[in-house]
Amino acid sequence: MGWILDIRNLSVSFDTKKILENINMKIRKNKITAIIGPSGCGKSTFIKSLNRMVEEEKNARVNGEILLKEKNIGDMEKEKVREKIGMVFQSPTPFPLSIYENMIYGPIYYGTKDQEQLKKIVEEKLRLAGLYEEVKNHLKMKATKLSGGQQQRLCIARALTVEPEILLLDEPCSALDVKNTANIEEMLKNLSDTYTIVIVTHNLSQAKRIADDTAFLLNGEIVEYKETKELFENPEDVRTKEYIGGIFG
Ligand SMILES: Nc1ncnc2c1ncn2[C@@H]1O[C@H](COP(=O)(O)OP(=O)(O)OP(=O)(O)O)[C@@H](O)[C@H]1O
Ligand SMILES: [Mg+2]
Repeated sequence: MGWILDIRNLSVSFDTKKILENINMKIRKNKITAIIGPSGCGKSTFIKSLNRMVEEEKNARVNGEILLKEKNIGDMEKEKVREKIGMVFQSPTPFPLSIYENMIYGPIYYGTKDQEQLKKIVEEKLRLAGLYEEVKNHLKMKATKLSGGQQQRLCIARALTVEPEILLLDEPCSALDVKNTANIEEMLKNLSDTYTIVIVTHNLSQAKRIADDTAFLLNGEIVEYKETKELFENPEDVRTKEYIGGIFG
């Protein structure tokens, strides 16, 4: 059934230190998959492996295969991988440019020249990210002047401008208040009609609220991975039980 990513025997080390050990996991298309687990267990390393960002760490060694719809991302050009699999980080990272320039950066990089086309992309993706109404009259304003929550929604909108199939988010709400978090959660729910979403979160209630599937990562291993409701209601592994029961982490 509808898998978009097939992760096979993925292991990652930094220097000689093993961080991820033999991960096997399939990610469902047009679903939200949450990665949970205690600090330092390898969540960011894992999500950065999914678009080969982890290779930017000089001391990283990656083994295994990740198939994007049957195609090994290791055999694709990195730029192509990142076009198909976009990423948004924990703290918002708008470029120190205008809102508009942030939004057209990717499309121009990937070859769109037509001004009308660019305008259309900007409006469409800002709307998808629920930001258009708030910024439509200030598109020339520096993006760094937006509020934290707005900047994060801009970063999500920007990631969508190159039409990725998958959106990776590493704790996108951890710097945001309740209202901004609710905004982003609602947006992600809507986006999952069109995109596949993988989100790292420290917030177990957030995983429960928005994720279809959840994987519990501990010491670089997937301890348990299944439908979110099942994982929280019927955890099989004692370590999952302890973690979601708040005993550690
Ligand atoms: N470039 C690197 N070189 C050496 N060790 C690294 C490097 N990057 C990460 N690590 C180590 O890998 C381990 C996993 O880090 P990672 O950032 O993936 O954890 P995490 O689960 O995302 O934690 P957090 O919840 O705190 O964000 C940590 O022990 C970290 O110190
Ligand atoms: Mg992390």
